[in-house]
This record gives sequence, C-alpha cells and structure tokens, in this order.
Amino acid sequence: MTDLPSTASSPQKKVHIETWGCQMNVADSEKMLSLLQGERYELTDSPESADLVVMNTCHIREKARHKVLSRLGVLNEIKQSKPGLKIAVTGCVAQADGKKLLELAPQIDVLLGPGKIDDLPRLLRESADTNRSMTSLGFDRHSEEKDGHEHAHGSNAASAPSITGKPEVSRYVNIIQGCNNFCTFCVVPFTRGREISRPLAEVLSEASDLVAKGAKEITLLGQNVNSYGLDLLNTDIVPDDGGPFVKLLVAVAAIPGLERLRFTTSNPHDFTMPLAGLFAAQPKLGRYIHLPVQAGNDRTLARMKRKVTVAEYLEKVQWLREQIPDVAISTDLIVGFPGETEEEFQGTLNLVEQCQFSFIFAFKYSPRKGTAAARFADQIDEKTMDERLARLNALQDRITTKLNQAEIGQVREVLFIYESAKEPGIFVGRTPHFRTVRVRSKINLIGKTSSVMISGANKVALVGDVLEQNLTIH
Ligand code: SAH
Ligand code: SF4
Ligand code: F3S
Repeated sequence: MTDLPSTASSPQKKVHIETWGCQMNVADSEKMLSLLQGERYELTDSPESADLVVMNTCHIREKARHKVLSRLGVLNEIKQSKPGLKIAVTGCVAQADGKKLLELAPQIDVLLGPGKIDDLPRLLRESADTNRSMTSLGFDRHSEEKDGHEHAHGSNAASAPSITGKPEVSRYVNIIQGCNNFCTFCVVPFTRGREISRPLAEVLSEASDLVAKGAKEITLLGQNVNSYGLDLLNTDIVPDDGGPFVKLLVAVAAIPGLERLRFTTSNPHDFTMPLAGLFAAQPKLGRYIHLPVQAGNDRTLARMKRKVTVAEYLEKVQWLREQIPDVAISTDLIVGFPGETEEEFQGTLNLVEQCQFSFIFAFKYSPRKGTAAARFADQIDEKTMDERLARLNALQDRITTKLNQAEIGQVREVLFIYESAKEPGIFVGRTPHFRTVRVRSKINLIGKTSSVMISGANKVALVGDVLEQNLTIH
C-alpha cells in the first residue's frame, strides 16, 4: 500500500451510512462523508454493496439505543458472508457506551465519538493495517482548534463537495458543540460534552461556501444555539444585546444569495428580546421558531432543571408574537417525567391549547443512565405514559390540522427543497412558517422560491399550485 505512487491509482471503495438522531448527526454524517471522499470512498445505498458501513447513532431515548443494537446484529450477519466489510459505529451511543459496546459487538472495527470525527480516516487505516478494533472517544477538540490543526482539517471537510445525495438547497452548519445545561432527563451533555463554539469567521466561511455551491437555506445547529459564543467570552449569561448569537445571525443573513436562515435548537431560558426583534428586522429568518418547553407545569420544569417557568415561557412567546403576529412556533414535550401527576400533565395540555403550536415533538420520558432524573424515585408506569402521549398527540393533531386548514386560500412564498422520490413531478418545499407544501409541476422547482396558492391541507402538509406568473419568471 505505502509504495503506491498516489491515491489516485487505488480503487474506489463504497461506503453506506446510516444516520439516526438529530440534525447534528445529519451534519456530522455529511462531514464524515466528505472526509471519506478524500479517501476515495463513494456512497452506496445498501450495506450489502458496501466496503464500509458507518452507523451514526443516537442515545437520546432507550428506543434509539435499542435500534443500534439490533441493527448491529443484522450487520454482523452481512459481515459473516462478506468478511472484508468494515463497520464503524459513531455518534452518541459510541460515546456513551464506549468500549462496553465493543464487548457486546466485537464486529465493530471503528468506534468514534462525536467529538472525534476527524479521526475517522486514520482509524480506518489503522484498523485495516492491524485488523483490530480502533477507538477514539472524548472531547478535546477545543485546544486543538485553538492551535489551528483541527481548524484546517474541519474546513477542508466542510468545503468538500457533498456526496450525500441529500438536497443541496437546504444545508446545516454546526455552530456550537455540546451543552452545559444538564437538564435532569437529558444525556446530551454526556454524549456531546461541554459547549464549544466555532469561531464566527469559520461559520461564515462554511455558510458562504455552501451558498456558493447552491444552498438557499441554511440551518445553524447547536443544542443551545442562544449560548453561541459565550464560551469564547468566558461567561454563562447572554448579554442584553442578544450577544454573539444575534451578531452571528446578522452576519450569516448578510451572505448574498442566501434566502432563508433558520436555527435550532433555541433554549427558551437563553432566548432574548433582541433575538425576537431580529425576526421582525430580518425577513430571511422567516416566521417560524422551534422553542422547546418540555412541560406545562412549574414543579415539573424545576425538577427538569429547565430554568424557566410556564409564565416566563409564555412571556417569550409573547415577545415573538409582538414582532410577528402570525409567528409559527413548534415545541418539544416530555410526558411521564418522574413524579408527574395527572394534574401536572393537564398543565401540558393547557399550555399546548394556549400556545397553539404549529407542531410538537412529544416523547415518553425515557430514563438515561447517569442523568439525575433516572435516579428520581417516582418513575411513571408505561401505561400511564402511553395514555398521556395519546391524549397529547390527539390534541395537537386537532390544532395542527386546524392551523394548516387555515392556510387554504393563502398565497405563500415556498422554497422548494426536493422532488418526491416516490412521486416524480411532486416538488416539496416550505413556507416561511415552516409548513411543508407539495406541488405538482412539469418544471423543475428545486431551489426556486415561488408564490404558491394553498388549496388543500391535512395534519402533515399543505398542497397548492404555483401561480402562473412565477412560472414565466423562472
Ligand atoms: N437541546 C434541546 C433538546 C435536544 S434533545 C433543548 O434543550 O431543547 C431533543 C428532545 O428530546 C428534547 O427536547 C426532549 O423533549 C427529548 N428528550 C431528551 N431526553 C429525553 C428523555 N430522557 N426522555 C424523553 N425525551 C427526551
Ligand atoms: Fe439536553 Fe437540556 Fe442541553 Fe437540551 S439544553 S441538550 S435538553 S441538557
Ligand atoms: Fe441523539 Fe446525540 Fe442528537 S443523543 S438527539 S444524536 S445529540
């Protein structure tokens, strides 16, 4: 291998990547694919046809972790009949379970934490050379970034052409890793480490690069984007002017050619009035925000360590509605947090009714090893959780359907992101309120922003027609 004159003469290899979890994992998978492309890998859509399978895993709830274990069983069977196949397990289960996972699943060749993505090519080479499992876990990127090594590496990966096959129109940019909040139910601070912000210049250069390659919408990612840059300023408190995150939004929004700028996740505790104000001043931010509340009861919120009360949450919603009266807000909710009484759960239903969220992500509480709430005494039984989840989802379904149906007859500016794979000729895009719109068109609409007359709606999506004058313009 070493005496080959250049990598150009080495054969093309195939990688299959499976991504679970949140957008941060999606962004990490894209970065890994870019790194692998530098190693002459190309993407394939089945593990059977791959030389390497990367499983980028999620640990947020037990169900997510179980999927990883059962999938590893399937991959092991494929590996039995194809011994050259390499298996890499990355992401939050890799970090949380660590070497214990290798004992459970010795077929893993590479085990890589989310803080060590840049090590993937090296570990693959080492594993091929030694025929042993290679591991890289933990979070020490900050110091390396400061002296410049990882910086250069990361930028290369970010600017490499994407081989994901994913739509280029809407792209993610990571702005902050990890989380300092330690909400008592949540495993993320354990799987992603403490907050580490990327320098503004690096974020801007990656975003500009993506726009130059055709992205029209960028979503800035972090577990708590509002605390972006506070680590660089050595403070825990967002300054009154909205701080570095607001400055970052202003700078990214100024990129010519960028049409929409979104971000997730915004923690209500650190959501500031200047950030609400920016929604009115900067149309690229659209009319939508994801603002996870988790519960509608103060005792539960305090025991979750969310650091906001229901009244404070409602006040922040009010700031937004003052700026954008028709703002669409979505949220995350947990049912059956330890000790949650029926009356406290009613608080969640009341809050959902009051806020009229455009949609919600509702989850049954899942105890995570190492978190404070997993040790709370009064865990709620599965049946009660199922029943609460069903009631919550039924209420939200009614609200979502009602809000979506109110869109019928409206003309909305829709940015089209992709063409349906199952139904060619159906283009799918989003309104400024982040509602999904499906339109039938003979013209390729991907990447275009067009005025669409909404003609139908259900709880999942809207349908409509592109207005005639748009078709002649584009
Ligand atoms: N950083 C984001 C949340 C990221 S995790 C925030 O603070 O809002 C995404 C969602 O998963 C959370 O908002 C929460 O609703 C849910 N979640 C996290 N841990 C969970 C657990 N142990 N059980 C059930 N749901 C959980
Ligand atoms: Fe988890 Fe809370 Fe951090 Fe969100 S803010 S990632 S819920 S610890
Ligand atoms: Fe899952 Fe890790 Fe994201 S646990 S939700 S992939 S940060």
